[in-house]
Amino acid sequence: MFDNKAILITGGTGSFGHKYVETILARYKPKRIVIYSRDELKQYEMQQKFDSDVMRYFIGDVRDAERLKQAMSEIDFVIHAAALKHVPVAEYNPMECIKTNIIGAENVIQAALANKVEKVIALSTDKAANPVNLYGATKLASDKLFVAANNIAGKLPTKFSVVRYGNVVGSRGSVVPFFQKLIDEGANKLPITDTRMTRFWITLQQGVDFVLKNFERMKGGEIFVPKIPSIRIMDLAEAMLPNVEHDVVGIRPGEKLHEIMCPEDDANHTFEFDDYYVIAPSITFTQRGNDYSKNSIGEQGNKVAENYAYSSGSNPDFLSVEQIQHYNQIR
Ligand SMILES: NC(=O)c1ccc[n+]([C@@H]2O[C@H](COP(=O)([O-])OP(=O)(O)OC[C@H]3O[C@@H](n4cnc5c(N)ncnc54)[C@H](OP(=O)(O)O)[C@@H]3O)[C@@H](O)[C@H]2O)c1
Repeated sequence: MFDNKAILITGGTGSFGHKYVETILARYKPKRIVIYSRDELKQYEMQQKFDSDVMRYFIGDVRDAERLKQAMSEIDFVIHAAALKHVPVAEYNPMECIKTNIIGAENVIQAALANKVEKVIALSTDKAANPVNLYGATKLASDKLFVAANNIAGKLPTKFSVVRYGNVVGSRGSVVPFFQKLIDEGANKLPITDTRMTRFWITLQQGVDFVLKNFERMKGGEIFVPKIPSIRIMDLAEAMLPNVEHDVVGIRPGEKLHEIMCPEDDANHTFEFDDYYVIAPSITFTQRGNDYSKNSIGEQGNKVAENYAYSSGSNPDFLSVEQIQHYNQIR
């Protein structure tokens, strides 16, 4: 699938980008991998790590439409990973989050259309489902732009899909490194926002593999959601600092008790496959088909029940304390 292909990844210097490049270089022989991001230091450090002649490093901002168009010249596949993704940062700097996550998404779409890119996958988050904070709201707007882009494409060949998943174990700024730092500094208890809290849990490698597979499955217009386990925050704390009483500090603004990946309101256009869901577009595509029950490689899905929601709280699959410890080691 990726042999002899030119791939561009926006935000390629991030956690996802590093794992993606490592995986692609180990499994395929791509023609070119273009990393597109702003900070020269992160790119310099990445160049030290990935010493391959297929790698290209472009300094650029997704807010810069012209630069994106130039960078996507002769590109086959795009992964859009660049984002401002910290909930409090987005609340404090709302327009900056809107510019990167929404205007940036539109720029990626226009650059891909202008260059007749074959396939584009944009990364989304569970926080985009029934959003309660600005980060989630901007990612929902971004999801909508990518889905609608299949209509705008008309007779152009470009297909756009979205991959939505939950907390990546150990990604920068997330709860595992936060707890680990406190433990390393000698903390004898951890701050728990609410003892009932649950989260979806995925490793970076699982996220990368799911994105890679969806390049084969996509028709354009889908929001792909992997079936992944949940964790209870109390089990995570027990896994990292066992046998102590933890502090309850209260839920933070913009946080949910449980995350949702497939909202109940989308159930009438959500399909369940063996190990993933597809939320089909709610709009009708004029140039392309609207049947999402079967994907491009022939896998068959079934409509979910009328009031079905895929939530971290009602997920039948929860990790035990021991399994969480294992996930933390392999992240
Ligand atoms: N991590 C998670 O738990 C998680 C969960 C679900 C979904 N996601 C989604 O997955 C994607 C990747 O996440 P990640 O964990 O890899 O994030 P990350 O480690 O923060 O990486 C994001 C990258 O985007 C780049 N970037 C930020 N603003 C940019 C801009 N305006 N123009 C170009 N590049 C920009 C940053 O590099 P520079 O600063 O050098 O530009 C950074 O390296 C995001 O879209 C996120 O919403 C993440």
